[in-house]
Amino acid sequence: MRTSRWFKLAAMCAAIVLMFSSAADAAVRGKLEIFSWWAGDEGPALEALISKYEKMYPGATVINSTVTGGSGVNAKAVLKTRMLGGDPPDTFQVHAGQELIGTWVVANRMEDLTWLYEQEGWNKVFPADLLNLLSTDKGIWSVPVNIHRSNVLYFVPGNLAKWGVGVPNTWDEFLEIAPKLKAKGVIPLSVGENWTATHLWESVALSVLGPVKWEQLWNGKLSWRSPEVIRVWELFGEILKYTNTDAPSLSWQQATDMVVKGEAAFNIMGDWASGYMTTTLKLKPGTGFGWAASPGTKGIFMMLSDSFGLPVGCKNKENAIAWLKMLGSRDGQDTFNPLKGSISARTDSDLTKYDAYLQSAARDWRTNKIVGSLAHGVVANERFMNDFATVMDIFLSTKNAQAAANAAQAVAIQAGIGK
Ligand code: GAL
Repeated sequence: MRTSRWFKLAAMCAAIVLMFSSAADAAVRGKLEIFSWWAGDEGPALEALISKYEKMYPGATVINSTVTGGSGVNAKAVLKTRMLGGDPPDTFQVHAGQELIGTWVVANRMEDLTWLYEQEGWNKVFPADLLNLLSTDKGIWSVPVNIHRSNVLYFVPGNLAKWGVGVPNTWDEFLEIAPKLKAKGVIPLSVGENWTATHLWESVALSVLGPVKWEQLWNGKLSWRSPEVIRVWELFGEILKYTNTDAPSLSWQQATDMVVKGEAAFNIMGDWASGYMTTTLKLKPGTGFGWAASPGTKGIFMMLSDSFGLPVGCKNKENAIAWLKMLGSRDGQDTFNPLKGSISARTDSDLTKYDAYLQSAARDWRTNKIVGSLAHGVVANERFMNDFATVMDIFLSTKNAQAAANAAQAVAIQAGIGK
C-alpha cells in the first residue's frame, strides 16, 4: 500500500518533469544558424555536435554557416560585416579573451549569459581563470566548448630515428640539428600562411620571455622595443632560415602534411593538428605522430578556448540558448573534443573518451603554468591582430628585427594595449 503511494508520487513527479522539459523542447523549433570556420577537415567535431542537437530537438534545423580558413582569418572578416550590418548569426565561434571582450563585448554586441551560467551550475565546473576570460564586471559573455594548446611541437618519431635526430628541448638545440636535416634534404620546420607564422612567433616569444614577461607584454609593463622583444624577432628570423619557401601558399593542414609525409621534421601548431591527424588522417598518437612542448616552453601551457556567444538581435534566440546549453554540458564537451583534438573546458570530463595525446594535454592543463595565446584571441583584440598580421608580413620580407619591434610598439599603442 505504502509502496504503491510512493510509486504514484514518483510517477507523477516524473510526468511533471517530462511535461516541462518537452515544453522547453517544443520551443526549440525552426532554424538555428551557427557561424564558424570549422569547415572541411576541421568539420567533424562540429558536425557531431550538430547531429546531437538535431536529435535532441527534432523540430529544429541547423544552418551550418562556415567560412573556411585556419584561425578564422576569413570568417572573422565576414562576421564583422554581418555584425556591423545588423545581420548577426544566431551564435558564432569566438575565442575567449580579448577577441570576445575587447572586440564584441566593448561594442555592446553580446547578450549577458550570467543567468544561464547560474541555471546550469557552470560557475562551479569551468575553471575560474577561464571564467575570467569570458567575463567583465557586467556579465559573462560566451560559453566555452574546449581548451586548445598552442605551443605544441609535432613530429613523426620513426622519421626522426631514421634521420638520426632527437626532439629539440630548446631553440639552440633546434638550430644545431637543423643544418643536419637540411643536408639530408629535409625541411627542418614547416610553416604555412601568415597566421601560422604568428603562431610560431608566439611560441618563440614565450621561450625567450618566459611566462611573466609574456604577460607583461599585454599589460603594458614590457615595451615592445625592449632588448628581450627585439631578441624574439632576431631568433624568429634565425629559425625561419630553416623553413619551407612556399609557406605563404600553405594552409596549416598542408604544413602538418609535410611532417606526416616525411618532407619536414617538425611543425609547431595548436593541438587541432592532433585532431586532424587522428580524426582525418587516422594516425595513432605516439607512433603515427609524436609531440612535445615547443622548444623552451616545457611546463608552460599556452592556452586558447573556442566559445560561442549570443549576439544581440539574433533571429532564433531560444534555439541558440538550447545550443549553448548543449555546448556547455559534460556530454556536449565530451562529444566534441575527442574529435577536435582539444580537451573539455569542464573540470569533470570523462577522460576515458580521450586519446593518449589529449590525456597528456589534460594533465599538463592541470599542472603547468598557464598563459594566453596571441594568435588565437586571448591576449589581444581584433584590432591588434589585424595590424600585427601586417607587421608579420613586413618582417617576413625584410627580416628587420628592430623595425618589427618599432612597428609592433606603435600597433600596441593604437590598440590600447597596456592602458
Ligand atoms: C583556432 C581555433 C581552433 C582551430 C584553429 C585552426 O583559432 O581556435 O579551433 O580551428 O584555429 O583553424
